[in-house]
Amino acid sequence: MTRRPLVAGNWKMNGLRGSLAEIKAMDAAYDDALRGRAELIVCPPATLIALARDIAAGGGIGLGGQDCHAAPSGAHTGDISAEMLKDAGASYVIVGHSERRSDHGETDADVQAKAAAALRAGLTPIICVGETRAEREAGEALSVVGAQIDGSLPADAPRHIVVAYEPVWAIGTGLTPTVDDVAEMHAFARERIEARLGGGKSADIRILYGGSVKPSNARELMSVPNVDGALVGGASLSAKDFIGIANAYR
Ligand code: PGA
Repeated sequence: MTRRPLVAGNWKMNGLRGSLAEIKAMDAAYDDALRGRAELIVCPPATLIALARDIAAGGGIGLGGQDCHAAPSGAHTGDISAEMLKDAGASYVIVGHSERRSDHGETDADVQAKAAAALRAGLTPIICVGETRAEREAGEALSVVGAQIDGSLPADAPRHIVVAYEPVWAIGTGLTPTVDDVAEMHAFARERIEARLGGGKSADIRILYGGSVKPSNARELMSVPNVDGALVGGASLSAKDFIGIANAYR
C-alpha cells in the first residue's frame, strides 16, 4: 500500500493578505521529518493563491483551490476555471464541498464535471461526499455516500484523485462520528470507489476524513483504517493548529 497521507486545509471564505503569515509559518514548520510522513496543502481563497505560491515556492506546502467552473474559460461572470487555479500556483482543487452543494445547489453531475475539469487542467480534484444528520439518523449514510461516489467521480478518473468523506453534521460543529462509524464508512467508500472505477485504482486513492478535525482528535481519527488524511476547515486557519493536526503523522 503506497498511499501517502494528505492533510489539506480549507480556509473557505476566510483570509486576507495579512493571513499569508500563517501559510508562511506552516511552510516553515513543514520540515523534512514531516515531509517524509505526509503531504500538506492549504486551500486559501483564490485571491491569495498566487501570493501564497511565492511564499511556498520551495517545494514545501502545496496549494489548492476550493471550487472551479467546469469550463476552461468563457462568459461566466464571477467564476474561476481549473486552468486559472493551476496558473495561479494550485495543484489541487476541492470540488463538491457540502457548502457548495447546499449554498449553490451543486448536484453530483456538476461535481463530476468540475472534477473532470480539474483533471483536464492538470489539477488533482479532492471530491467531497457526506451525509446530513437526518440521513444518518434514518440509517441512510452509506447509501447516500455511495450514490454521491457513483455520481461525482468521473468514470475514467485516475488513481491520483482524492476523495474526502465529510459528514455534513460534523462540519464546523465540534461533533465527530465514532471511530467505528468512520471505519465503516471509509471501508465502504473504498469498495464503492473500486466498483465505480475498477482496475484496482481504489487501493491507491486517498480517502480523507473531514469534519471538526482538531489537534486533540487528529491522532485517533487518522489512525482509523482506510483514513488517508484529513480535510481541515476551521483549524487550518491557524498554523499552530494545522501543524498540530499534521503532527499526528510525525
Ligand atoms: P471543519 O470543516 O474542520 O471546520 O469542521 C471541515 C470542512 O468543511 O472541510
